[in-house]
Amino acid sequence: MDDVLTLGKLTSGNAPYFPEDTDLMAFGDRLVNQFKLIKKDDSALNFITDGEPYKVHLDPKLLEHTLYNLINNAFKYSKGKKNPELSLLFKPTEVVISVKDFGLGIPEDEQQHLFEPFFRANNVSEIQGTGLGLSIAKEYVEVNKGRIAAKSKLGEGSCFEITFKT
Ligand SMILES: Nc1ncnc2c1ncn2[C@@H]1O[C@H](COP(=O)(O)OP(=O)(O)OP(=O)(O)O)[C@@H](O)[C@H]1O
Ligand SMILES: [Mg+2]
Repeated sequence: MDDVLTLGKLTSGNAPYFPEDTDLMAFGDRLVNQFKLIKKDDSALNFITDGEPYKVHLDPKLLEHTLYNLINNAFKYSKGKKNPELSLLFKPTEVVISVKDFGLGIPEDEQQHLFEPFFRANNVSEIQGTGLGLSIAKEYVEVNKGRIAAKSKLGEGSCFEITFKT
């Protein structure tokens, strides 16, 4: 319980929130290029967009941290598989940003704990991590007034979806 409180203080309590009208298309392009630069293997992030783009009022720094975490996981838990995807879906009243991979997936009976601090699933013990990335990602999405949800099938892949009402 202490850990949860500390994490809360480190993140939402102190996270600066500076929303601005953000061009998510340019933002996505930049993220994709950043990952191109840091990837040493030949994996890459595919970028998919759908709908008529418009600017969204949110804090781009918080969103960047959030997506960086999710994309890192997508690569880390899908080594040797099809490339992960970042997608933007512009709907009339909301925008959906998703990060999808075709990797290990998450055991169904453990998915309920996914956003808890220090959670690590039983199929990733060989891969290093602290189990904090997703809990911080969720805090940041909430500071940004969005929602985050995950879908995953063991052995097939995972998809994390962030939704902002617009
Ligand atoms: N894309 C994914 N594919 C499969 N499992 C995932 C994925 N993303 C998260 N997980 C599971 O959720 C757990 C928690 O993820 P989280 O990002 O919080 O921690 P981590 O990756 O283990 O460590 P770190 O704190 O370095 O990010 C992971 O350990 C893994 O079991
Ligand atoms: Mg992680």
